[in-house]
Amino acid sequence: MRFTLFAAAIAGLCACSSGDVPTPTGATCPPEGTTLTYDNFAKPFMEAYCTRCHASTLHGADRHGAPFAHDFDTEVGILNVHEHVDEQSAAGPDAINRFMPHDGMAAPTDEERFELGIWIPCRLGTFGRPDARPVDAATPDAATPDAAVQ
Ligand code: HEC
Repeated sequence: MRFTLFAAAIAGLCACSSGDVPTPTGATCPPEGTTLTYDNFAKPFMEAYCTRCHASTLHGADRHGAPFAHDFDTEVGILNVHEHVDEQSAAGPDAINRFMPHDGMAAPTDEERFELGIWIPCRLGTFGRPDARPVDAATPDAATPDAAVQ
């Protein structure tokens, strides 16, 4: 009897905790592609919700704890850690990830999270190399010093 209650409690807990762990969204680029681009979507998305902590121009306490090499003020910066971005803040068939931002300030709507889930795989391309950097990703230049290191 005690065991049954325990098992039931665990089962209940598991049901309630879905969505508590960063999960790959499983989002894919639709066959027809997308009209979402860096300029019309990802850039304003990141500027509205992420770059107040995650920017290459921010250092020390100004990052509010945002980890090294997670800078979203350039397209390359986003794509370099696209799996993390997906698991923290995008939405798709397998998960709606609302972990970021975590400061209770301006946050994307779920609809915007689904758009992020689509923009990432469409931007990466479907050449069987999900980790490959897109050929025409922002050209390394003085504005993106990190890109030149790669
Ligand atoms: C208020 C500051 C702040 C904002 C705004 C913010 N983050 Fe973060 N982010 C953090 C901190 C602090 C961490 C490290 C602790 C953690 O992972 O919870 C982090 C970690 C991350 C990580 C790394 C997690 C890992 O796998 O190691 C990713 C990816 C991320 N954030 C994406 C985003 C995205 C995308 C946005 C915008 C939608 C965003 N963050 C907005 C502070 C912020």
